[in-house]
Amino acid sequence: MNQQQLKDEIRRLADERDALIMAHFYQRDEIQEIADIAGDSLAMAIEAANTERKVIVLCGVHFMAESAAILAPEKTVLLPRTEAGCPMADMVTADKLREMKERLPGRPVVTYVNSSAAVKAESDICCTSANAVAVVNSLDADEVILVPDRNLGRYIAANTEKKCHFWEGYCPFHDQLPEEDVLAAKEQHPEALFLAHPECRPQILKMADHIASTSGIIDFVKKSPVKKFIIGTEVGVLFRLRKENPDKEFIMPNSLLFCQTMKYTTLEDVLKCLQTMSPQITVEAETSRKAKLTLDRMLAVPR
Ligand code: 13P
Ligand code: SF4
Repeated sequence: MNQQQLKDEIRRLADERDALIMAHFYQRDEIQEIADIAGDSLAMAIEAANTERKVIVLCGVHFMAESAAILAPEKTVLLPRTEAGCPMADMVTADKLREMKERLPGRPVVTYVNSSAAVKAESDICCTSANAVAVVNSLDADEVILVPDRNLGRYIAANTEKKCHFWEGYCPFHDQLPEEDVLAAKEQHPEALFLAHPECRPQILKMADHIASTSGIIDFVKKSPVKKFIIGTEVGVLFRLRKENPDKEFIMPNSLLFCQTMKYTTLEDVLKCLQTMSPQITVEAETSRKAKLTLDRMLAVPR
């Protein structure tokens, strides 16, 4: 099958199966193209909670499919490549988080959605990069524990009065972005604005003209009169940015902002998963019940 035939067959089968195809903005271009919805982690969670379709095909990484399965337990949630994990999510376990909670009793745990269901179940509320500050500020507590991203944690700390305790996790791709590469891009393109994701290190965020989640970056570019942008997040967002802004130019500071596991999923994988209705992602009932409370609390925070 050529690419067009693959796409046509995926769309035909998705309708037949009553399936909603969701893709994260870091997915391959062709996956974002065939998806019903391309979005950030928050948009995907909201959509999973609200969709009326029977099946969700989650083109993203494992924690995203788990969140969909937790929020929509009556649906069939398919993850075309089960080995597509998030290295940051693997940096914290429920046991280690319990130890931290014992060391810092009484502080609510705010957990980035980039985490396992078991870690969410040990937490009080979730957040994404799009709502993290609002979530923390909504809490009736002077001190909070922020898990697992130390960079998102420090970004939150800079934008709240609350005392923050961090877990030392990080995204290997956002965290490695060197200042020199951003400086070089800025020198080469002095008219460009630098937009950065809060998973980048604080030194990088200091250099940014705007800090936002993937959807925040996409919205900012659409509304801005500026024509050139240096992009401080994973390269997959270029698909949407270029599609919506054919008159604007986008510069990546280096070639390392590339999340391998986000790129595992191919059109062939999506087709196979719709044909076989597998691999299915499920979460053990008690873990799911507890984790759902943390996601529901997050979704109730006004945006
Ligand atoms: P957002 O799409 O929520 O900004 O998250 C980025 C990310 O790294 C997802 O893994
Ligand atoms: Fe995880 Fe980073 Fe990949 Fe996002 S970009 S899925 S945080 S490894």
